[in-house]
This record gives sequence, structure tokens and C-alpha cells, in this order.
Amino acid sequence: MIKVERIRKDLETLARFTATPGKGVTRMAFTPEERQARDYLEQEMRSIGLEVYTDAAGNLFGRRAGREPGAPVVMLGSHIDSVKSGGPFDGAAGVVAALEIARALQELGKETVHPIEVVVMTEEEGARFGSGLYGSRAMVDGISPEEMTGTFDEEGISKAEAMRAFGLDPDRVREAVRKPGSVKAFLELHIEQGPILEAAGTKIGIVESIVGIKTIFVTINGSADHAGTTPMPMRRDALVGASQVITAINRIAREAGENTVGTVGMLQVKPGSSNVVPAEVKFSIDFRDGKNEVIERVEREIKKELAAVCEAANLTYTWEEALAVPPVATEPKIIDIVAEAARRRNISYRLMPSGAGHDAMVMARLAPVGLLFVPSRGGKSHCPEEWTDYEDIALGAELYLDAVLALAQ
Ligand code: GLV
Ligand code: MN
Ligand code: MN
Repeated sequence: MIKVERIRKDLETLARFTATPGKGVTRMAFTPEERQARDYLEQEMRSIGLEVYTDAAGNLFGRRAGREPGAPVVMLGSHIDSVKSGGPFDGAAGVVAALEIARALQELGKETVHPIEVVVMTEEEGARFGSGLYGSRAMVDGISPEEMTGTFDEEGISKAEAMRAFGLDPDRVREAVRKPGSVKAFLELHIEQGPILEAAGTKIGIVESIVGIKTIFVTINGSADHAGTTPMPMRRDALVGASQVITAINRIAREAGENTVGTVGMLQVKPGSSNVVPAEVKFSIDFRDGKNEVIERVEREIKKELAAVCEAANLTYTWEEALAVPPVATEPKIIDIVAEAARRRNISYRLMPSGAGHDAMVMARLAPVGLLFVPSRGGKSHCPEEWTDYEDIALGAELYLDAVLALAQ
């Protein structure tokens, strides 16, 4: 059955594959660290007899055949990429839980009607190229050629170039698209990344809905001028404009309601010298809400503010949408199956929404999805302090083992 020691070993091993040892986990898509993590997972999958393959987008799979080879697959997993200096559990916990469930199924010798696939998704965070949920979008919508050649990392490497350097063929990315009906269900276990479960002393969160997310990159252009000789009224300072907009974003999100959040987490200033008036500022905007109409209203208000600030200060701007995912509901039948398993095993649970984005929200357009949370210590995530007890991940995996059997048999 589910063994907490194996979960611990997997997670401790994966945590070592980081570009920032001692400063949390930094494991971006298509990097040497990600390669190490994939190699480890591949080896573990092979060692239990799973058939390993990588799809055209770089998602890694371990497949366990079912009695009916053509039957829709029950897929479970999460991602292994991270934010910069993130924690060892975001994504990895769900991948490791899925692997452990596959081990348990092998040991139990359980035959299922449907095939089962453990999936390791690529670039969920979007920390390298700016547009997340890449692996799941590649499976559900397909990735456009513009995204492949037109999104870049900090070194100016495009997604297509990074994939090629990783041994994948970016021109074939559309082959990763799954046919409608080919996936019976997608299950993702994830750390909560918030404080609710721990505060309530509850072991499991069964997610009912996932927020909608928009990610935008704004570039404001002004004029580079000498910081000593250019009189204040004659400046076109892009950073002063950006800071007004950024402050407004915070206000707009606060005023939109208690379920709305808005964040500017990335800012680049050019030319970036103490004695030059900033000529160009690029910043990200991430805003989220459970309701699409609120997301649209917030977007209109931010755009209006941006236009007004730039007009008043003689600045120009561009607005690039990097990600737009609507809010989604998870599958009520899967909620019932997991809740029933929790009651049977006497494990405490509650139903809750997710404020974080997850591959499950994209997969929901292809198949019924389930999303299960386990507690995060202090609610902390996207930082090195991120922690979840291995025992709690094991409890979540036990519930999902029941769910996989119910769905695949
Ligand atoms: C993913 O972690 C997100 O919610 O941005
Ligand atoms: Mn994350
Ligand atoms: Mn995640």
C-alpha cells in the first residue's frame, strides 16, 4: 500500500535537483535540473514496470496498461517545475503521490479496465517563459506557433529554442493534443499553499472550484535622459508612470471584492542606471477571481488606469496577455468518491476553493477533474520555507488510490 518512506525519499531526492542549493528549489522547464528530476522519475517508473514516454510538449508519462487498451485513460499527476527559489512540494508532492499510487497498484496486483497514466507536467509555473500551465494547455488546446517562438526567458531564449536544446521538436508540439474522450478523469494532488487546512486541523481539502487567472505583461516607454540635467517637468519617466499604475492595481484588486487578488511580481527597468531617467519599464500583472465577470471588470479598470497615466505623462505602452484561464468547477462525482473514501478511512476533510492555479483547471476542459489539497505549514508556499508533512501527502495518496480504483475499474 502507500508507503510514507518512499514518498519521503522521492521528495528529498527531487529537492536536490535545484539551480539554487540552500535557497529553495529553482527548477525551471527544460533545464539541467529538470532533466535530473525527469531522469530520476523515469527510472522509478520503469522500475515498477510502467511504460515510459514523453509527449511532443515534453510532458513525461508512466503508463500502466488496462484490460481494455483503447479505453480512456485515468491520468494523475502534477508538475515538477518551480518558481524561483520556491519550495520542494509545489507540484512535486502531486507527482510523487501519483508515482506512489502506481507502486501501490503494482504491489496490490490490481488489474483495471482503464489504463492509468502518471503524468509529470511541463512549465506549470510559467517561471521561465512567463506563460504557465504549458504542459496541460499543450494537451488540451495545443500551443500556437506564436507562443513557441514568441515567448522568451530572461536570457532571450524562446520556448522553441529551449525545447530543441532539450532534445524535443517544437514543430511537433501540436501532436501533444489529446482527443476528446481519450481521458476518463484527471486527478491532481497538491499542497494547499494557504493556511486554512492547518488552522482548522483538517487533513484533506477537496477542491470544488479553481479561480480564473489572467497574466499580463505591460511595457511602458518614455525617454532616457540625463538624471542631472533634465528638468523635472521635461521628463518622460517610465518608472514613475509604472509605479502609479502598480499602486492602482493594488487598489483596484482591493476594491473589487474579498475574493479578488492582483499582484505585480516582476519589474524590469531600462536602461537601469542610477543617473539615467528610466526609458522603459516592463512589469507583470497577475489577477484572479472566482468569477469571470469580475476578472473582466478588473481588467477594464486596470487598462483604463494605464491609458490615463500614460496619456497624462506623455508615455506609450503595450499590453500583452500571457495567460487567460477561466474559473472552473471540479467534478462532483469525483468529489463524492474522495469524500466517501475519507469518511471510510476516518480522515478529516473539508470542501474548499483553490486560489492557486493548477493544471487541473486546464484539464477540466478535456475530462472530469479532481483536485485534492494537503496542509501547508503556516500556509507558506512559493518560498523556501514551504513545508508539508510526508504523512499528510501519504493520506492524500491513500484517498486517491481509492479514487483511481473506483474510476479505472
Ligand atoms: C501557480 O502556482 C499559480 O497559482 O500561479
Ligand atoms: Mn506554484
Ligand atoms: Mn503547483
